[in-house]
Amino acid sequence: MTGDTTPADLVADLTLAEKVRLVHGSVDPSGRATGFIPGVERLGIPPLRLVDGPLGVRVPDDSATAFPAPLALAATFDPDLAREHGAALGRETRGAGQDALLAPGVNLIRVPQNGRNFEYLSEDPVLSAAMGARLVAGIQSADVIATPKHYVANGQETHRASVSAAVDERTLREMYLPSFRDAVEAGAGSVMTAYNAVNGVRMSDHRELVGGVLKGEWGFDEFVVSDWYGTEGAAAAANAGLDVEMPGAAPEELHGAMAGGDEEDDGGSGAGGSDGNDGDEGEFDDLPEEIARGMPDPESCERFAETLADAVRDGAVPESRLDDMVTRVLRSMDDVGLLSEGDDRTDGAVNTPEHREHARKVAARGTVLLKNDDGALPLGDRDDVAVIGPNVDEAVLGGGGSSETTPVVSATPIEGIESRAAGDVSVAYGLPPVEGVSMFDLLRGEEGDGSNERDPDLAGAAAAASEADAAVVFVRDAATEAMDRETLRLPGRQDELVERVAAAAARTVVVVNASGPVELPWRGDVDAILANWYPGQAHGDAVASVCYGDVDPGGRLPVTFAPEETYPTVGDERRFPGVDGEVHYEEGVFVGYRWFDADDDRVEGASGADPTYPFGHGRSYATFEYRDANVVAAPETVDAEYRATVTVANVSDRDGREVVQAYVRPPDADGVDRPVRELAGFAAVAVPADEERTVEFALDDRAFARYGDAGWRVDPGEYVVEIGRSSRDARVERIVERRAEA
Ligand code: BGC
Repeated sequence: MTGDTTPADLVADLTLAEKVRLVHGSVDPSGRATGFIPGVERLGIPPLRLVDGPLGVRVPDDSATAFPAPLALAATFDPDLAREHGAALGRETRGAGQDALLAPGVNLIRVPQNGRNFEYLSEDPVLSAAMGARLVAGIQSADVIATPKHYVANGQETHRASVSAAVDERTLREMYLPSFRDAVEAGAGSVMTAYNAVNGVRMSDHRELVGGVLKGEWGFDEFVVSDWYGTEGAAAAANAGLDVEMPGAAPEELHGAMAGGDEEDDGGSGAGGSDGNDGDEGEFDDLPEEIARGMPDPESCERFAETLADAVRDGAVPESRLDDMVTRVLRSMDDVGLLSEGDDRTDGAVNTPEHREHARKVAARGTVLLKNDDGALPLGDRDDVAVIGPNVDEAVLGGGGSSETTPVVSATPIEGIESRAAGDVSVAYGLPPVEGVSMFDLLRGEEGDGSNERDPDLAGAAAAASEADAAVVFVRDAATEAMDRETLRLPGRQDELVERVAAAAARTVVVVNASGPVELPWRGDVDAILANWYPGQAHGDAVASVCYGDVDPGGRLPVTFAPEETYPTVGDERRFPGVDGEVHYEEGVFVGYRWFDADDDRVEGASGADPTYPFGHGRSYATFEYRDANVVAAPETVDAEYRATVTVANVSDRDGREVVQAYVRPPDADGVDRPVRELAGFAAVAVPADEERTVEFALDDRAFARYGDAGWRVDPGEYVVEIGRSSRDARVERIVERRAEA
């Protein structure tokens, strides 16, 4: 684009056919992009290449840095780190020759078994919104379009393409929309709609939530893209506010381009059509029931390529709407420099030393020390260590589906511990490997080929444990897009393995690699537990740096760990997975810790059960004291109502990292049940041994408000600001009086 030419000027020069070409996916001749818009050469509009995903760039037959899962990043509670993380993801995207990243995933974690929880950030809207917004800002800073997804209420994989979420306005506003609102505010160049419907209307057709809330209220003026095969009627979607339909071609067309005729190739990208379909036609027919329940149907998707031009000619879609769709695409491209002459965009690169180091840093910093009895951790340099577990010879890169990445290098648990230990290291697997599940394998009808089988040897594991100073046991779950986990229990006989080891070892440390909450039935029998999520390529190195105390475990739980049956969505089919095509969000705003905190007299069904480990929980190797808390009305110049400050003193002889959390306990509101406490602010801070740091939070109206019939309001009354170490560990409290609004 030259000089003063604007996206609107370009639109004026486009023919109808050219306009339509710019609002739907096509086949990428290079086979690299997950989604591809060809551009219009005669006007100098270049192609737009969209690529998955939240754990790193995913290009067929190519590698890139396999970053830790977003859930691990969220566990750092560190928005600055999220900004750096986004920038690294963005640079990798550019390095792979792509323009838009199909990330971050900012859906709220509602269902603990959701197969994609590892791709998301947390059960709390404030944490999710803060981390998601910084990810977006980071991605866009690398001249890459960020695509927060999946808008909105995509809380489960079972029937994800057809289920309708029945959710009331207050719950949407307080819980599910904030992460999208803040992602838009942070400059996202695109938003992806969810497969599911909300209150009976498909999200790709949702006039009220797409045209109304997203574009109208929040002023989002860039493009809204469908999830892959996530549309139904073209005119309905366009008129509701959808701007781009993806992937825009039939699975077999995409497959042809991707595989380059090589039927054996399975390295493809893009879920739902471009990958996982290799080698067979009629890809979505005859799928095993478990996976079919999570897949969209490409046949029921009316393609913009086939019908949109006619719909505009007939007047079913006003041409002004099509012009707006194109303008939005061009605006978003222009924002990242794609339309500038000479294209002086940021140079990206994949798999740089900086990105590898960043991946290691996040994997270590996001590790949560759930328990540490008698200083079991850190390990002594000279300790003899038994590394035990069915998968200790592989790095847990992530879960299955469109977020799968292929790294150049990775560190297994054995390699990580061996390279750090000065004492002897022995290895025992104990069990056959737990196989990761991949949506793509399931689509191809392949389940593990068993080639990796090995006989269980619990006695051998116990023997190795008994001979070492410490046993470090690695256990894991298995999760994938398109399917929810059946249970929060660890697969196979891993619980038994931990029990056998704990009975034999002098000291037992368990490292849990999980996609979300899992049950830890042996927790009373072991000395230390680390929640290490899906740590990506740096797995072994990151765990070793935490186990030996080179890095203080800075992670805190972004999701509540509790017995499976005590979650609000468990044991009630209406709430999950839904009945007759509808899933009822009847727990309302009482999700995550808001549910576990709820009084059973006031919130129907609340169990009053104590979580195993509460939201925000995580120990440090250091010891902190909280002093001099203060909450004052902010000076007028500051964009916040109140400023909370507290001094955190590290009273130990180790450098540590603390995550200071502020929760607000609202007063009773007329006839409206509010959560006992809601996260209002947080800060991750490094505090050297014997030093102190003063931490400050801004608490704006959002920290006090609820969504009522007349919109957001702050009820008058006394609010308690709790500042502390977790949702269940307040160290200081201050009262704030809010007056009735004038
Ligand atoms: C997923 C999206 C992904 C898209 C493209 C869909 O199945 O839900 O998250 O970006 O495929 O691969």
